[in-house]
Amino acid sequence: MRRVAEPRENQSALWAGPRRDVLDLDDFTKAEIEEVMANADGMKEVLGRGVRKTPALRGKTVVTVFFEASTRTRVSFEQAGKILGADVINVTASASSVTKGESLLNTVRTLQAMQIDALVMRHPHSGAPYFVARHLDTPVINAGDGTHAHPTQALLDIYTIERLRGKLAGKRVAIIGDILYSRVARSDMIGFRKMGAEVVVCGPPTLLPPGFVPGSSIPEGTPYEGVRVVGRVEEAVDGADVVMVLRIQRERQDAGHLPSLREYSREYGINSATLGLARPDALLMHPGPMNEGVEISSDVAHGSQSVIEEQVANGVAVRMALLYMLCARARNGGS
Ligand code: CP
Repeated sequence: MRRVAEPRENQSALWAGPRRDVLDLDDFTKAEIEEVMANADGMKEVLGRGVRKTPALRGKTVVTVFFEASTRTRVSFEQAGKILGADVINVTASASSVTKGESLLNTVRTLQAMQIDALVMRHPHSGAPYFVARHLDTPVINAGDGTHAHPTQALLDIYTIERLRGKLAGKRVAIIGDILYSRVARSDMIGFRKMGAEVVVCGPPTLLPPGFVPGSSIPEGTPYEGVRVVGRVEEAVDGADVVMVLRIQRERQDAGHLPSLREYSREYGINSATLGLARPDALLMHPGPMNEGVEISSDVAHGSQSVIEEQVANGVAVRMALLYMLCARARNGGS
């Protein structure tokens, strides 16, 4: 019988060092990101097996605690942990003692007291996972915090692009939409630039962060250095290797950031005409959930250039890699 490789122990060499948590990509080196990509390749191999199971994390317990709604991230972490043989416990904040007034800190300390090996958390407040990580010994993975960061989404986006089109270095990635409030945009910009991509962003002026001025590039000394900002979607998409479309959160219209979703769609929506300005083999991506007919038209969302479902599938492999790499340290006798 053919012996199928297990996830590679020696892939965690860098991570055997100081990294305990995954909070954002700004403190990742390019080498660390490449290490995640290599481990995700190993996990992809596991996912291709007839029996998708490996005992790599047998005896480990992963807890997910989501204070905000999620489909892709929560389910893929659960699936990732279970395929690796871990016990996975999902805590839904609305069904926990948070509803009785228990604080965030006491909630996560309570979970840690049950000898868990990793805590995956999503929280509506930017910075909440950093606060938690400061107070716990358990590895913390940020599954999205407020408008700040979504590092595992960025890692799966990098993985998807590199798996389909080779190294990101020198590739042109256009990110279109709500750059101001999107945690995906922030982590993607940091991650793509670290991997050497040319990044162009475009969105309504009311949905650009301070310092993001159309016609300029972000100067050195910020995590987004070298990101180019343009005013027209046609300019952003022109010649792009990848078009990343962001969700327009409907509450932005209520807050006065957008005159109307129809107008947004007309000015910034990605459809067959705007996508046609990108390279003919350009990848169309979206982190989900999509508002079809607003930021993206249904025909391109489900068309031949769309790799949106591959992003979801790759999310499992990348999250398997992260759980494995973080929990491996404890397994090897570390703190
Ligand atoms: N991309 C993303 O974070 O999706 P969910 O909100 O469904 O997890």
